[in-house]
Amino acid sequence: MKHCVIKLHNITKTYGSGESAVTAIKEASFKIFSGETVALLGASGSGKTTLITMIGCITQPSSGQLSLNETMVYNEKWLINDTRKLRRERIGFIFQSHNLIPFLNVRENVTLVPLLNGVSDANANTKASQLLDYLGVGDKLDKFPSQLSGGQSQRVAIARSLANNPQIILADEPTAALDGERALSVMQLLRKLAHEQEVAIIVVTHDERMLPLFDRILRVDDGVVIEEVH
Ligand SMILES: Nc1ncnc2c1ncn2[C@@H]1O[C@H](COP(=O)(O)OP(=O)(O)O)[C@@H](O)[C@H]1O
Ligand SMILES: [Mg+2]
Repeated sequence: MKHCVIKLHNITKTYGSGESAVTAIKEASFKIFSGETVALLGASGSGKTTLITMIGCITQPSSGQLSLNETMVYNEKWLINDTRKLRRERIGFIFQSHNLIPFLNVRENVTLVPLLNGVSDANANTKASQLLDYLGVGDKLDKFPSQLSGGQSQRVAIARSLANNPQIILADEPTAALDGERALSVMQLLRKLAHEQEVAIIVVTHDERMLPLFDRILRVDDGVVIEEVH
């Protein structure tokens, strides 16, 4: 059964105030369902990072309502005390650069968040091994980030973002650092995950070749979010 994982109603974000105020997102309203892969397109400065970080409860909206998994988390103010905990438990982030922790090995990078969430060592390790195998880097458990190629690091970062079984994955240009072929295979993998594990995925991308891999396309044009026919 598909359910509504992300719902925005008139979400607006204004940075600063008075003369210098910049409205980065203007009254965005849309829903995203479990299992959907959504591309977020738009020129530089159009508001994509602002939008994705509000959905991830990193950036506080200025007004509107935001619900995640049918729970309202923002209604003119945060309705949850601990946005960090919510993020850790429900949301996987993939950034443009992989952001792996250099002094932890691959296994430790992937198990860190589950361990913080109270998962046992044994369970966290089993899950990490499964994910890394699934992503084709199962033989890198004991390597450090500096010993991996760009593509391998990004796969580890994806494994890490999935380790807490998130219902939502938010990716800000996840394949920018990869060559065309690797970028495509990472995106195919995200799509497979979304469909098999009923995860909702939003990906900021500039790569037109990726677009056929998405179920829906949202375009941000100077802060206005528009659904594009595909
Ligand atoms: N922390 C901030 N403080 C002030 N203005 C910001 C901040 N972050 C982004 N902006 C402004 O908001 C607009 C949208 O930025 P952003 O969401 O980063 O766009 P994109 O990710 O599409 O490039 C831009 O005009 C940018 O300058
Ligand atoms: Mg951005």
